[in-house]
Amino acid sequence: MDRKLKAYYQKRLQEHGATAEGVGWNGAVAQEVRFAQLCRVIQHDSFSVNDLGCGTGDLAGYLRTRYQQARYLGLDVMPAMIDAAKTRFNDRQTRFRLIKAYDALPEADYTLASGIFNLKFDKSTAQWKQYILRTLQRMNRASQFGFAFNALTKYSDKPKMKRELYYADPLWLFDFCKLHFSRNVALLHDYDLFDFTILVKK
Ligand SMILES: C[S@@+](CC[C@H](N)C(=O)[O-])C[C@H]1O[C@@H](n2cnc3c(N)ncnc32)[C@H](O)[C@@H]1O
Repeated sequence: MDRKLKAYYQKRLQEHGATAEGVGWNGAVAQEVRFAQLCRVIQHDSFSVNDLGCGTGDLAGYLRTRYQQARYLGLDVMPAMIDAAKTRFNDRQTRFRLIKAYDALPEADYTLASGIFNLKFDKSTAQWKQYILRTLQRMNRASQFGFAFNALTKYSDKPKMKRELYYADPLWLFDFCKLHFSRNVALLHDYDLFDFTILVKK
């Protein structure tokens, strides 16, 4: 994992603890809006789900109240995030595992990823785009019924955009998913945040 990225998340977690702010978001309300969009890919009552870049496991809590039969596996590259997540949840349906950036993902019905394509720091745009596509290919390989992810949008307000963040072209990612993964792809860009969500249903 990139040194700057690690230092950034370490600092956020130390300052804010296991909260939306502690994993880099501005607040819990928008974090939940993102979860709701990602969950629109789910078409079952009973299913297994990978949460790639799980942070401290907030999605596990969100799923628990809505899907009693979800079997959740949180995956993250940062040991501190996984350690914090493990202290929050203690049931057989909720597990967490440390992974490396390009490890193959465990097989699951669905894979969801919120916020893993945002912080580019010093990587070139070409490198970052390659990382995104490689990650989507890993998500696709692991997911039987579908996967979903979000990214910051290039349609963000210019004065608010930051150098270290990556603002993706939603149409580029929609096109890639449609051409490579499934005929059934949805681009959700109607929920009042500076990001969009893509659902790939198989
Ligand atoms: C913005 S936080 C979001 C956490 C969580 N998804 C949420 O919405 O509450 C991003 C998390 O993804 C992790 N992460 C970043 N890149 C990753 C990657 N390639 N694979 C797995 N985890 C990653 C970071 O360590 C961090 O915990």
